[in-house]
Amino acid sequence: MSKLLIKGGSVLKGEYRLKAAKNAVLPIIAASVLTKEKCVISNVPDITDIRNMLKIMNALGSEVTFEDGVIGLESSDLLRFSVPSDLAKELRSSVFLLGPILARLGKAAVAYPGGCDIGVRPLDIHIKGLQELGISVEESHGTIYCDASRIKGADIMLDFPSVGATENLMMVASLAKGRTRIRNAAKEPEIADLQNFINAMGGKISGAGGDTITIEGVKKLHGACYTPIPDRIVAGTLLIAAATCGGEITISHCQPEHIEPLLFKLNKSSCILDARSDKITLRCFERARNIDKLETQPYPGFPTDLQSQTMVLMSVSEGTGVIVENIFETRFRIVRELMKMGAFITVKDRTAIIRGVKNLEGASVSAGDLRGGAALVIAAMKAEGYTTIENPFHIDRGYEKIENIMNGLGADVKRI
Ligand code: UD1
Repeated sequence: MSKLLIKGGSVLKGEYRLKAAKNAVLPIIAASVLTKEKCVISNVPDITDIRNMLKIMNALGSEVTFEDGVIGLESSDLLRFSVPSDLAKELRSSVFLLGPILARLGKAAVAYPGGCDIGVRPLDIHIKGLQELGISVEESHGTIYCDASRIKGADIMLDFPSVGATENLMMVASLAKGRTRIRNAAKEPEIADLQNFINAMGGKISGAGGDTITIEGVKKLHGACYTPIPDRIVAGTLLIAAATCGGEITISHCQPEHIEPLLFKLNKSSCILDARSDKITLRCFERARNIDKLETQPYPGFPTDLQSQTMVLMSVSEGTGVIVENIFETRFRIVRELMKMGAFITVKDRTAIIRGVKNLEGASVSAGDLRGGAALVIAAMKAEGYTTIENPFHIDRGYEKIENIMNGLGADVKRI
C-alpha cells in the first residue's frame, strides 16, 4: 500500500491549468448511453472515479477508449441492463446509470452504490422522482430494479435539491414522451453542463442552473463531442492550499464565478485575489485572519466539497471560526487526524469550532475520504516537519496525481 510522505513548510508559487470537473464528466459519461452513436469527451483527468465509471461502461457493452485526456464512448449495443454490483459498490455515480439505461432499454438494475463514506447518502429522492415519471421501482437484496414501460413526462418537486437525483431525472426524461418539469432542482454548474451536453446530442432541456428545469422528451439523441466545465473543486483546493501555506499561485482555464462563495471568504481572510475571465491569482504573504462562520449549502452556497480543505486553513488562521456542515452528516472525520497534527477543534453534531494555532506539526495520519484526504495534504504542506498520509487511494479518486499537482506549485510531496 502506498503512502504520501510530505515535507512541510513550502511557500507555493506557480500556475496550474484545470482539467474537466469529475462531477461533470461522470454524469456525461452516463448520458452517452442515451445514444447508439459515438460521444467524445475532452480535457478529462485520469482519476480512479472516472476509470471505474469507464469499467462499468465496458461491462455494459459500450466501446470505450481513454487516451491523452480524451474519452471515446460508443454504446451501439448495450449487452446488459444491470450494473455489476462489484463495480457499482466502487462508485456512487453508478446510480446515474439508472436513468440512461432505463431510457435506452426500458428496464435497469443497479446495486446500492458506494462512494465516499461521508454520511448515509440514501436514494429516496431519486426513487420518488422516477416513480413520478411512471417508472416502477423495486428494491431487493441491495439492488434497485426499475421498469419504465409506462414512462411519461411529469411535474416533479424534489424534497431537496439533490445533485444526483436532478441529473438522473434529466437523463431519463430526455427520451420520455411528453414534458417533464423538475422543481426545486439542484443548481450546481455541473447540472447546466449536463443540460448543454444532452442538448448537443439533440435534446431539448432548458432552465438548468435555475429552480425549475424543463425537459421536452425527444424520440432519439445522436452522438456529440463535448468539453465539460473545469473542476471548481480542484481550483478551490489549490487556492486554499496557497492561502494556508502562503505564496502566489495562478489557476488558469477556470470559471471564477463557479467558486464565488470561496473567493468571498478568502477575500475576508487577508488574501489578495485577482479573478478575471478564466484566471484567478491568489497572493498571501501573512497569516490569514480566521473566517468567522462558514455554512455549507447547495449551490450557490458554500460547497461541502471544499469544507474540509477550508477547515485546514481555519486551523492555522488567527482567531476562532465556526463551520456548520449542512449537507453530509459525517464530514468531520478529518478532525481527529488534524488534532494529531496539533489543531484545536471542538465538534458538536454538525458544528465545528476551530481555534487557530500558529502552525501544525507533522504526524502520521490517514485519509478517510476524497476531500478530507486532499485537506490532509494541505495540512501536511503547511506543518512543521514530515507527515505521512495513509490510504491516498481516496485522494486519487478525484485528483490526478496530487503529488505532481502540488510539487508543480513548489510543495514537497512523495509517494512511497
Ligand atoms: C454530488 C457530488 C458530491 C457533492 C454533492 C453535494 C457527484 C458525483 N458528487 O453528490 O461531490 O458533495 O453532490 O454537492 O456529483 N440525499 C437524500 N436522498 C437522495 C439523494 C440525496 O437524502 O435520494 C441527501 C444526501 O444524503 C446528502 C444530500 O442529499 O445529504 C446531498 O446529496 P446529493 O446532492 O444527491 O449529492 P450527490 O449527488 O450524492
